[in-house]
Amino acid sequence: MGGREAARAILERAERVVVLTGAGISADSGVPTFRGPEGLWKRWRPEQLATPEAFRSDPRLVWEWYAWRREKVAACRPNPGHDALAGLALRRPGITLVTQNVDGLHEAAAVAAAAARGRPPDPALPLELHGSLFRVRCTGCGERAGHRGPIDAGSPETLPRCHGCGGLLRPDVVWFGEPLPADLLARALAAAGEAEACLVVGTSAVVYPAAGVAMRALEAGAALVEVNPEPTPLSPYAEACLRARAAGALPGLLS
Ligand code: OAD
Repeated sequence: MGGREAARAILERAERVVVLTGAGISADSGVPTFRGPEGLWKRWRPEQLATPEAFRSDPRLVWEWYAWRREKVAACRPNPGHDALAGLALRRPGITLVTQNVDGLHEAAAVAAAAARGRPPDPALPLELHGSLFRVRCTGCGERAGHRGPIDAGSPETLPRCHGCGGLLRPDVVWFGEPLPADLLARALAAAGEAEACLVVGTSAVVYPAAGVAMRALEAGAALVEVNPEPTPLSPYAEACLRARAAGALPGLLS
């Protein structure tokens, strides 16, 4: 298995690259991961907070947790790892960025990188497979909208409501037991099926169907490059591995 030079060569010669990121890329920005020693799922039980059943039985509690996460993440900034990926996607056609993260940091990096080049950010915008902390969806009419303002989860009466139908709003994130947005998943899998290289950064690669994006790329013959301080179930399939933090490794790898 190769290291940094092998990884650089793979990514340079590939015309089409699918990139799959997870919570690890945002760890260097101060966003907690899910499964590490300090991970969110060590402190809270997913079924109490991140399921449709949990929201139906106690929407206030679920919103309180999301309000806390939104506040924490809103104070975080993209790190050099996000910036390097945004720069790559703007510089080269054929890059598809797919993320499981709901923190909006790839988008923030894409907007900043595009503005610095006087370009629209479109090619660097990620496919956010698990949704976004900063979007809401109406449980009544299904309308989606961006939402960055404060959430008052002090009582059921103060929870955010839809301007159109008055229905209760929920975070526009994918919860356990829910399907991923079909159009986004289809686009991610299609890009994976055509990619000559797949760069996987900061994900434990245990949550499907998101991890299936890397598997699809592998099945289609793509060379896998992994950036993660720890091994994952994808590591045995990788042609090159960087056992390093994303913020440190990606700028050099993608420059
Ligand atoms: P995890 O918390 O499962 O995994 C984080 C990964 O990042 C681990 O493999 C770490 O070794 C690695 N890591 C930690 N610090 C890093 C750093 N500085 N640079 C690079 N890698 C680092 O997070 P995900 O794989 O993203 O889903 O989790 C997948 C999904 O599980 C999440 O999207 C979420 C969760 O349940 C939903 O909420 C639907």
